[in-house]
Amino acid sequence: MGSGAVAYYYAAQIRDSKTRPNVLAGFQLAESGSVPFLSALSDRAAAEGDTWLAEKLAKHASDETRHGQVFAHALKQLNKQVIDFKRQSQSPSTSKSKQQRSPFFAAFYEGYTQEQLKPPVIDWDVFMASTYILELDASKDFTRMAKVLPDDEPTTRNLKMGILSIAKDETGHAAYLYEAMLRRMSANQVEQLVDKWRNRKINALLAMVGGILQRNGETRSLVQDSEPVNV
Ligand SMILES: [Fe+2]
Ligand SMILES: [Fe+2]
Repeated sequence: MGSGAVAYYYAAQIRDSKTRPNVLAGFQLAESGSVPFLSALSDRAAAEGDTWLAEKLAKHASDETRHGQVFAHALKQLNKQVIDFKRQSQSPSTSKSKQQRSPFFAAFYEGYTQEQLKPPVIDWDVFMASTYILELDASKDFTRMAKVLPDDEPTTRNLKMGILSIAKDETGHAAYLYEAMLRRMSANQVEQLVDKWRNRKINALLAMVGGILQRNGETRSLVQDSEPVNV
């Protein structure tokens, strides 16, 4: 239920050309933002002697880099770009609030401190199961979003194709993470672990939807007009 509601929300937001840039910016930040985390985990897996996992994670990181570029490119075609928050927010109060997790992630990883979720120490089972759920749902949500984009206009059609190819990658990520869990535990244990994180996801989505409703549907703007190109 929660997943359907959120997919519907994003589908409506990406379909509307007024809200589209902000949605694209949010995805660019999320996709690109996961790259350092995945790269660090790949290094850790290599150091622990798990070459198989290290390679999967390195591929995962490079896919997410590409996903970020797809959204950045789509924004550029709308003459928009992600706001450079690093350059803008120098005051300590804003940088502090930036470190706060979104209501979604706070609820999803409830009971774990930010320190416990960092690449050098995160429990592999926690990483694999939580990321498996996120990737699996991302692939479905992206497919749904691509479907609502009209294809009567070249830039939108490009974006649609881009999002569909991203969705395919996310399916692949979910698949290797599932396999990674099967290499560590029995099929029964995998199922139990996945169930646990599925429930966390549902609760986290409800927390997020509650947050959106509290703000009357207003979301923070993540985009600005592109800087003029110097010729
Ligand atoms: Fe992605
Ligand atoms: Fe992914």
